[in-house]
Amino acid sequence: MRGLSLSSIVGRIAITDGMDDQAIKALEDAGHEVTSTHYSIEELLDGVLAEFDAVVVRSATKITAEVLASSSSDGSKLGFIGRAGVGVDNIDVAAATNNGIVVCNTPGASTRSVVEMTIGHFIASARHIARADRSLREGKWQKKELKGTEIAGKSLGLIGLGRIARGVADAASSLGMEVHAYDPYVQSSPDWINMHDDVDDLFRKCTHISVHCNLSEETRNLVNSARIGMMPGVGNDGTACGNHIVSCARGGIVDESDAAMALQNGQLQTLALDVFDREPLGDSELLSLDGFHGSPHIAASTMEAQRRIGTEMTSLLIEYFETGSPSTSLN
Ligand code: MLT
Repeated sequence: MRGLSLSSIVGRIAITDGMDDQAIKALEDAGHEVTSTHYSIEELLDGVLAEFDAVVVRSATKITAEVLASSSSDGSKLGFIGRAGVGVDNIDVAAATNNGIVVCNTPGASTRSVVEMTIGHFIASARHIARADRSLREGKWQKKELKGTEIAGKSLGLIGLGRIARGVADAASSLGMEVHAYDPYVQSSPDWINMHDDVDDLFRKCTHISVHCNLSEETRNLVNSARIGMMPGVGNDGTACGNHIVSCARGGIVDESDAAMALQNGQLQTLALDVFDREPLGDSELLSLDGFHGSPHIAASTMEAQRRIGTEMTSLLIEYFETGSPSTSLN
């Protein structure tokens, strides 16, 4: 990988979407010069990153092929892109590779936080917690209208069975849910998880669906009207609990306008999203629907996850500056 010489063991690092304070201090204590600033797309396209040896982003900064082209002029030092988190859909990894830039993420550091957020959204959905709070603030006392259902005794369908989905499976199972999953890429799974070869079967079987796959051409709008229409609406325990979907994975996998329609026609009782096709969300018809509640992409935003992410990213950066090639990278 390019950019590093023995004299650049101390580097200039841009942190564009924030990182844990202790991690920044550890980098500064190791002698690195850290600039913590969010750059606009215009500044990125003007080549501001060429001034740095390394950049660390979360999801707000998009490192496109154009940004890399303008940051890779003669004399550019940029040799490391760190994704403080899991998803690298905001980084053109192939373009980085072509430019000799190493890309690293911190895949396991936020698992527990995202698992807890997913379960939290399911319970908030089934018990109308967000809706109850909204109605209290409007001065209403909707004790009768806000009757919920238990998640125990229902089938949970996981789309994708990676680290986070497996954590959700454990938690859901301990709360009394039967767990199902669809993941054409996994080789093995615990025998108490019912695997499906066809994603449609997962929708037919489950009243609760949780999204845990990456966004790709294959998964864009995978959760759509046709599939929502297949969900049974009645739990294994015979309760007419309606259908519920949660996504803390990536925007664009749930077709938001199909889901809004399903909330309106009753095929879906609730939808809880932490991630959206367009972020920040701005105006959305979802915001006017009682069965919807959301959060602004904060599933990994806990003190614990951000500390672990910071610690892991600091080690990767220090390793990069010492050896030129961190032990775990995506390219
Ligand atoms: C991730 O991919 O790590 C999450 O979406 C968290 C984030 O970007 O904040």
